[in-house]
Amino acid sequence: MVLESLESLSVTSALPLVSDPLKMFGSSYFSMTKQDDEPSGDPLTGRVVVLGVTGSIAAYKAADLTSELRRRGADVFVVMTRAAREFVGAATFQTLSRNPVTEELWNEGEGWQPGHIELADKADLLLVAPATAHSIAQFAHGLAPDALTSIYLATPAKVMLAPAMNGKMLDHPATQENLGRLRERGHLFVDPEEGELACGYEGVGRMASVENVVEAVLIALA
Ligand SMILES: Cc1cc2nc3c(=O)[nH]c(=O)nc-3n(C[C@H](O)[C@H](O)[C@H](O)COP(=O)(O)O)c2cc1C
Repeated sequence: MVLESLESLSVTSALPLVSDPLKMFGSSYFSMTKQDDEPSGDPLTGRVVVLGVTGSIAAYKAADLTSELRRRGADVFVVMTRAAREFVGAATFQTLSRNPVTEELWNEGEGWQPGHIELADKADLLLVAPATAHSIAQFAHGLAPDALTSIYLATPAKVMLAPAMNGKMLDHPATQENLGRLRERGHLFVDPEEGELACGYEGVGRMASVENVVEAVLIALA
């Protein structure tokens, strides 16, 4: 089982947390250390990763993440929220993923089938990195105002989230409740890390490193 293998590799640190993700999320909330520096072959060949990018300052990390996943053989389709596009342009993701980027529900492509349903059907993994408090809340409550949240509701694929936000946002009971709901649904999480946050605070909330997210994807799709 994926969760078992994730747990067996888990080396979650006991960080002095502003909010303790382990306390909040239990065993499916994990962080990992990369075991091996070099990708062996193309372990993700033939796997489709739909990468949701939401409106966090950490959206720039999703560009590297796209490259790394593609380098390991994954077919990466990026779906951006409107807020994410305030941080990084769609052209960056289109170039790095070598696939079209989904930006809006209403101009999704030319086939008869809505593009978001096509993506939801073909995904092996829906990875949302970075995942904002807002998108997490929408997933938790089943709201589907945009392409990413619609794909979330429509996909039978595994879901993995890498939250990124200010420590106080992460610590808020509303966010904790929402994350708890998503954990109960069996979704996978990659711990946010401790450090200096873009908002000027220190604490937990910074999106996990690209390296750790890639490692989690490799395990989830093994
Ligand atoms: C400069 C800036 C940085 C932000 N960083 C974050 C963040 O890291 N995490 C977060 O949850 N929201 C952050 N926000 C707020 C979100 O962009 C906002 O809640 C937005 O509605 C999220 O929409 P989305 O989830 O649909 O992408 C930031 C806003 C600004 C202006």
